[in-house]
Amino acid sequence: MEKKTVFSGIQASGSLHLGNYLGAIRNWAAMQYQYNNYFCVVDLHTITVPQDPATLRAKIKEVAGLLFAAGIAAENSVVFIQSDVKAHSELAWLLNCITPMGWLHRMTQFKEKSEKQKEEVSVGLFDYPVLQAADILLYDTHMVPVGEDQKQHVELCRDIAQRFNYRYGDVFVLPEAHIPPVGGRVMGLSNPEKKMSKSEEKKEDSIFLLDPPDQIRKKIKKATTDSLRDISFDEKRPGVYNLLTIYQLLTDKSREDIENHFAGKSYKDLKEQVAEVVIESLKPLQERYHELTGEKGYLDDMLERGAIKAGEQAEEKMRQVTESMGLK
Ligand code: AMP
Ligand code: TRP
Repeated sequence: MEKKTVFSGIQASGSLHLGNYLGAIRNWAAMQYQYNNYFCVVDLHTITVPQDPATLRAKIKEVAGLLFAAGIAAENSVVFIQSDVKAHSELAWLLNCITPMGWLHRMTQFKEKSEKQKEEVSVGLFDYPVLQAADILLYDTHMVPVGEDQKQHVELCRDIAQRFNYRYGDVFVLPEAHIPPVGGRVMGLSNPEKKMSKSEEKKEDSIFLLDPPDQIRKKIKKATTDSLRDISFDEKRPGVYNLLTIYQLLTDKSREDIENHFAGKSYKDLKEQVAEVVIESLKPLQERYHELTGEKGYLDDMLERGAIKAGEQAEEKMRQVTESMGLK
């Protein structure tokens, strides 16, 4: 039987954090052997909000390096930079011409992000989900492994594909989002009511994948909890719930075992143990990252190969798309 295709993307808008790891990258690495995979650093999505050019250039490489360091292997997966494959922008334009504006007005992520920026909001930010649909549809993707926040975007992609197929024939595969049952929404440490994010303003809120051990200990020590005492998986106490969930995801123990383990212990014990588990889990990834970025030319070489492979598939798809629309 032919393997199904997986596609996912990640922005270079800041430093990768534990939410990216537990909600996305770790799962990409774990499932890669069963599928054909494309993992893309989506730099064109990243510039939908203002970026400093020098920082962006460095972050694109850092994110790509972390994907390999997390165990995504070139034998199973194509890793590439979005702007290296021109078909992404090209297909986004074609899809723009069949996507009703009303569909985009409904996107909650646009509403949230544009509230922060008000008058400065770019057309690109509004159009972000259409570019995302282009990413996915170029590769005949069956599955899109993402965190919870991306569910609506993948559903929109399906709607766009369906509309296109209805007008022009059976060109696109309809993709499905694949969201982990636990870990799809890791919350911030200081504000556990909001998801952990790459935002640089709230450095205390996120554990970044390249944070040194002492910093991880310090951040978790300061994490917001509550004034109660018992340590249990209670969603109404988001701080403790989030710490326990991180512990659960990294130890693979059952909730019951974890609650028994922490029975009678203090929040201080909980925080110390969560910190140690996080440090130990990130250690191999950090070591591999430093190893592979220390090898001159390695990363550039891998990305160049990735772009060539992705480009071949994308060009083939573009031929079908342009022909079906009457452009060729
Ligand atoms: P982004 O950082 O927005 O490019 O997201 C990259 C991937 O990480 C996407 O699949 C997101 O859904 C996922 N992700 C981002 N933040 C979190 C979070 N706090 N918890 C779980 N998954 C997340
Ligand atoms: N919007 C996604 C995010 O912020 C990133 C992304 C871009 C993506 N293109 C994609 C995810 C295609 C999955 C598939 O997380």
